Amino acid sequence: MKTLKIILNGKETTAKPDQTILEVATENGVFIPTLCHSNALEPAAMCRLCMVELTEGKRSKFVTSCNYPLRQDAEVKTDTEAIRRGRKMIIELLMARCPDSDELKRLAGEYGANLSRFEPLNDDCVVCGLCARVCEKVGGKTLTLSGRGVHIKVDTAFGEASPYCIGCGACVQICPVNAIEIEDIEDERVITIHGKEAARIKLNHCETCNQYYGPVIDLTKVMERLGEKTIPPPNLNLCPACARQKLGKRIADRYYDVY
Ligand code: SF4
Ligand code: FES
Repeated sequence: MKTLKIILNGKETTAKPDQTILEVATENGVFIPTLCHSNALEPAAMCRLCMVELTEGKRSKFVTSCNYPLRQDAEVKTDTEAIRRGRKMIIELLMARCPDSDELKRLAGEYGANLSRFEPLNDDCVVCGLCARVCEKVGGKTLTLSGRGVHIKVDTAFGEASPYCIGCGACVQICPVNAIEIEDIEDERVITIHGKEAARIKLNHCETCNQYYGPVIDLTKVMERLGEKTIPPPNLNLCPACARQKLGKRIADRYYDVY
């Protein structure tokens, strides 16, 4: 396969055709900040934080590195003065939306962001879309980005609590600014976004310890969507801790029987 010659921050390296700039940078130990990227999902280029300077032939331009596929020899600069200025402004805009985000505070410190430059929106969401994309891939296709321009926001269909949520918590895990909450309350799991209930899912009940655990979901559909064919049937009458204990006891019984 043909390899491309890439000059990355002055050092020569190679890339496979169609590799993204972010992938090549990561392989070469060059860090590019990202907010809306996950290796598990298709890139959507929502946050623009990963912007780099690319020269292909005689043309130079700024591109988002997470979704730009390299198709010819090129030079890439990831940390010039102009790039740092651009990232600083993006961070200032995002900080106005999410002033409490630890990740943004860290980036603001690194790029010397002016935190009073833009009027605070206190939205608690950077509209990266990761939650909606992961929900589309593994969850119940519950979350979506709705609205346009500055009014774009993550929400459930018609802004109502969704009956399709499977309570997997992938949205909670992936959100870079911890905008989504998950809480198990008695026999239900509650997902909250922007202080509003997005879904409420029943939990399984353990017949041994009497605790509620894990949402009642049809795993078959989730695994099928992820391309998995064979799924061992879970024992839904036992929580993971009791299931482990039971398995340990079975192994111990067998061990003492044998010897
Ligand atoms: S809630 Fe979190 S993951 Fe979802 S769009 Fe907002 S910042 Fe991104
Ligand atoms: S990480 Fe590339 S645009 Fe957000």
